[in-house]
Amino acid sequence: MEKTCGCKSKFNAVFMKNLEWYMHKVYGDFKRELFNKLGKDVLEIGAGTGSNLPYYKPWTNLTAVEPSKDMLNFFLKKAHNYPLNIYIREGYAENLPFEDETFDSVVSTLVLCSVKSPYKVLNEIKRVLKPGGTFIFIEHVKSPKDDFVAKTQDILHKSWKWLFEGCDLKRETGKLISSIFPKSKIKLVKFNSPFIPVNYHIIGYAEKD
Ligand SMILES: C[S@@+](CC[C@H](N)C(=O)[O-])C[C@H]1O[C@@H](n2cnc3c(N)ncnc32)[C@H](O)[C@@H]1O
Repeated sequence: MEKTCGCKSKFNAVFMKNLEWYMHKVYGDFKRELFNKLGKDVLEIGAGTGSNLPYYKPWTNLTAVEPSKDMLNFFLKKAHNYPLNIYIREGYAENLPFEDETFDSVVSTLVLCSVKSPYKVLNEIKRVLKPGGTFIFIEHVKSPKDDFVAKTQDILHKSWKWLFEGCDLKRETGKLISSIFPKSKIKLVKFNSPFIPVNYHIIGYAEKD
């Protein structure tokens, strides 16, 4: 698999960093509720610039997997501000370098849209979770209706994917999660944000049998 690199990678890291204040505003309440469900040993895939760091419980053992050095540079700059035990692994969530049943919980926010194979990633998440472990997620998804959002997704799909390094506006991630994790609670939420093509999100959690 190709490594993320070059000016698009830098652009995306700076873009995500500058969007953090907005993500706290939009997702903050959802995240506070979801992150409460996490256990002590947590894996975050696609941890990006570290926008989720403020939501972890103190003294969580947090392992962050992220392929982009540019994202990780921002992550590292702020990681020491939080009372967490943080381990960072540069890499892709399709091949997690951990043994089966290692983590109490796994976190994915705005990542399953961008990975090459969400199917492989979800199976990896399931593999590394302990039995009874929790997977929490917030992901933007394909519009479930033939509405204005769907039209913008159709129009922007290709250029969005190019600019945002593989980010797919039309993934039906909720269906995939519930097929791999039969014990899942998924809420479809429509935001009224200026980022119209990503206004539909799934927010929820799943438990490994
Ligand atoms: C839109 S950003 C979200 C970052 C962070 N999760 C957040 O909510 O702020 C998507 C992240 O997924 C990462 N990513 C892309 N492909 C990945 C893969 N195959 N495995 C793990 N992370 C990946 C990107 O490098 C980027 O940091």
